[in-house]
Amino acid sequence: MKRLAILASGSGSNAENIIRYFENHESIKVTSIVTNRKEAKVLERAKKLNVPAEYFPKKAFLEEEIVLDHLLKNADYVILAGFLLKIPQNIVDAYPDKIINIHPALLPKFGGKGMYGMNVHTAVKEQGETETGITIHFVNENYDEGAIIFQAKTAVSASDSPEDIANNIHQLEYAHFPKVIEEALL
Ligand code: GRF
Repeated sequence: MKRLAILASGSGSNAENIIRYFENHESIKVTSIVTNRKEAKVLERAKKLNVPAEYFPKKAFLEEEIVLDHLLKNADYVILAGFLLKIPQNIVDAYPDKIINIHPALLPKFGGKGMYGMNVHTAVKEQGETETGITIHFVNENYDEGAIIFQAKTAVSASDSPEDIANNIHQLEYAHFPKVIEEALL
């Protein structure tokens, strides 16, 4: 069985989608949810779906081995689904080409520090882009710079608000992220 830990800092709708996709899978299972925010809604989703969840304060990610120890005990792969901290070097080193992130834009455009959530969609709108999309990529020690695994696009119309863009992006994420993870692991 290939075990997935999902790291999320926020709502966790992608985490829930991934958990459900692999619920009855023959060789892949979500075994842990990890968050850096006590109030993250992903914790409620994990409880509802009976997936063990752990909260670690930011300090633990940046200065201690405790998170790496937890991951090594529970996961063969690490999935980032709305995780807002940079992955520390000790975890990157322990999981070479085994950490997968989803970014809500067509990297390398609209990536890097500070480019997350609505910031991305607002920037896409303000730049007058006619398309945007998702990027699923392996994670290295720099924000949003690992090898790209998959991209999907969606049109942006002049009348779209950043919220409309966000909704279109979420639909792409739900449709593709679990399948791309499955293909990357098989
Ligand atoms: C998603 O848009 C993802 O692309 C980005 O963070 C967001 C997480 O949303 N990395 P959710 O917490 O899965 O609802």
